[in-house]
Amino acid sequence: MKFFIDTANLDEIREAHDLGVLDGVTTNPSLMAKEGITGDANIKAHYQAICKIVDDKVSAEVIATDYQGMIKEGKELAKLDDKIVVKIPMIRDGVKAIRYFHSEGIRTNCTLIFSSGQALLAAKAGATYVSPFIGRLDDISFDGLELISQIVHIYQNYGYTTEVLAASVRHTMHLIKCAELGADVVTCPLKVITGLLKHPLTDSGLAQFLADHAKAAGK
Ligand code: E4P
Repeated sequence: MKFFIDTANLDEIREAHDLGVLDGVTTNPSLMAKEGITGDANIKAHYQAICKIVDDKVSAEVIATDYQGMIKEGKELAKLDDKIVVKIPMIRDGVKAIRYFHSEGIRTNCTLIFSSGQALLAAKAGATYVSPFIGRLDDISFDGLELISQIVHIYQNYGYTTEVLAASVRHTMHLIKCAELGADVVTCPLKVITGLLKHPLTDSGLAQFLADHAKAAGK
């Protein structure tokens, strides 16, 4: 399973990369705005800065919502770096844009997926990734993890190569369940990845080992 970090914060991306388990980054317009990145040139420069840190894929989302606008913006984003994946919303023109980018060999991440039907449509259009939003479904009392299970099942039925990129992952159990269900990728805040480190028996076990070592050494 690949680990992507869901942030536009360069320090967090560096920290995740230093941990040695980072495969990529996802961003969205809200995450870019949170970092105070505005204006076309600044946004592009920021994507390039992210690409310099990570080894693999970086999702950069288009702002346009019409077909021509998404094509223009997506092409510009894809030109910034080989690692860029053009993130396209699950709307009618978005599906058409995904089909176009697929024919041009440009990778896409179809975002704002909330149903298995939408995921099927994105795979048929040739999306490289689909991003089902687990946490936002849970927030409105729908089962986000059940959606991951449905999409994995459908893609296996027909051998779609579109990767299931579980998004809106809020805690470690989301991540672990996604791994059990066979999601290809999870994208989440750094604290969810570092949360995997934690177990009280690891802490008490290590303390005991060190205490026994010190005792034997007469310290
Ligand atoms: C990732 O691609 C999504 O934009 C992101 O995971 C959304 O997460 P949120 O629901 O926590 O904003």
